[in-house]
Amino acid sequence: MHRHAVILATLLFGSATGTARAAEPDGYETVALPFFKAHCLRCHDGKQQKGEFRLDTLSRDFGSQQTAERWAEVLFRINSGEMPPKKEPQPKAEELGKVAEWLSARLKEGEAARMAKRGPVTHYRLSRDEYGHTVHDLLGVYFDVTVPGAFNDDPRRHGFDRIGSVLSLSPSHVERYYRAAETVLDRAFPVQQPKSVVVRRSADDGKWKDRGDPGPERWLLWPDSGRPAFDVKTAGRYRVRVQLSGLPSFKGRLPHLALWHNGLKRAVVGRDVLAPEDKPTLVEIEAFLPEGSFAVRNESPGTFSDGHTLSNTQFTFRSIATTRQNRPTGYQLFTPEGQTVYPTLMVDWVELEGPILTDADRQKRDGLIPAKDGDLAAARECLTRFASRAWRRPAGEATWTGT
Ligand code: HEC
Repeated sequence: MHRHAVILATLLFGSATGTARAAEPDGYETVALPFFKAHCLRCHDGKQQKGEFRLDTLSRDFGSQQTAERWAEVLFRINSGEMPPKKEPQPKAEELGKVAEWLSARLKEGEAARMAKRGPVTHYRLSRDEYGHTVHDLLGVYFDVTVPGAFNDDPRRHGFDRIGSVLSLSPSHVERYYRAAETVLDRAFPVQQPKSVVVRRSADDGKWKDRGDPGPERWLLWPDSGRPAFDVKTAGRYRVRVQLSGLPSFKGRLPHLALWHNGLKRAVVGRDVLAPEDKPTLVEIEAFLPEGSFAVRNESPGTFSDGHTLSNTQFTFRSIATTRQNRPTGYQLFTPEGQTVYPTLMVDWVELEGPILTDADRQKRDGLIPAKDGDLAAARECLTRFASRAWRRPAGEATWTGT
């Protein structure tokens, strides 16, 4: 095991912002109560207890787990539009926004208070997404928490994925955290920093003039079709450039260019493209890419009307003018006037540059590994520095040796 993995994993369990607060909530009388009086209490007070639920006497001690869960239910009912019931006069969006914001803030505070009080047994852990963001914040490392096997799915409850009581820590979780920490550290402190390179894949080989072809070859991408683009060997930040045309369907829908991860079977990033056939545009996307092989793909919504797609039928394409008569698929891709029937992409080339290590990300890794092996004093300093960043407050040695 990487020698710092244990420490990193441990620190990240507890890394969270916020400080404990007293239980008495601000704004109950000015924000919450007027809203409840106007929209809720006539059904949920001492006289009427619809759903056997009293809002007027519900404790405002958000630091209590049980109370917080009741309030989370209230927030959920409000946000989902279930309460007040549909046939009742409805609150204005602005009122709703205010009370929802007030409640979320109180729930967050309560959670922070519970965390501050937590005993040695109840672990608090980051949600999957928080882990990903935190690792990037602290070390400038990209770790895709959604890759199958990386982490267990966080249980969702009331639409929140970070209510403390449901973020439990099973043995399989712990093991995954250790494994994640190894990967993260290998990326932050690789034996050798991977060199940034540029690779380009073109639809045409550049020899069309010599051969007397009527124009360069392009990849014609109708909805749900794609072409292999590049392999990413090291996960990280990359710049992807694509030269292409993007033609709308005859109804005006724009084609959507996606970088499709073949292993994950989903688009990692993408955007709509509009550019005439004879004036291709250059799209540049900077993004974190996980390892694996990628395709450029037309992800415009819309399978064909009969439910079929043409994904596997590829043919040499140069331009609408030279292809129009040619309908190898049996589907009409262009109108007799030369308009695209479906949102369509015509790709000239795809370029990948990276992995890119920005100065900002590089600096995050400074001062975390002692220069000399076995230098305990320096190791202590490094850990203290890292712990302070992870907890976002000065963390002396006593703090991290206590964990
Ligand atoms: C016209 C009457 C009425 C009004 C006004 C009303 N409710 Fe309700 N509420 C009900 C009824 C009936 C139920 C039980 C049925 C259900 O759960 O949907 C209920 C259930 C609930 C529950 C679920 C209780 C539980 O533990 O299952 C919550 C929470 C709630 N309401 C919150 C609110 C809030 C917050 C408001 C104001 C924004 C509000 N209600 C306004 C009638 C009302």
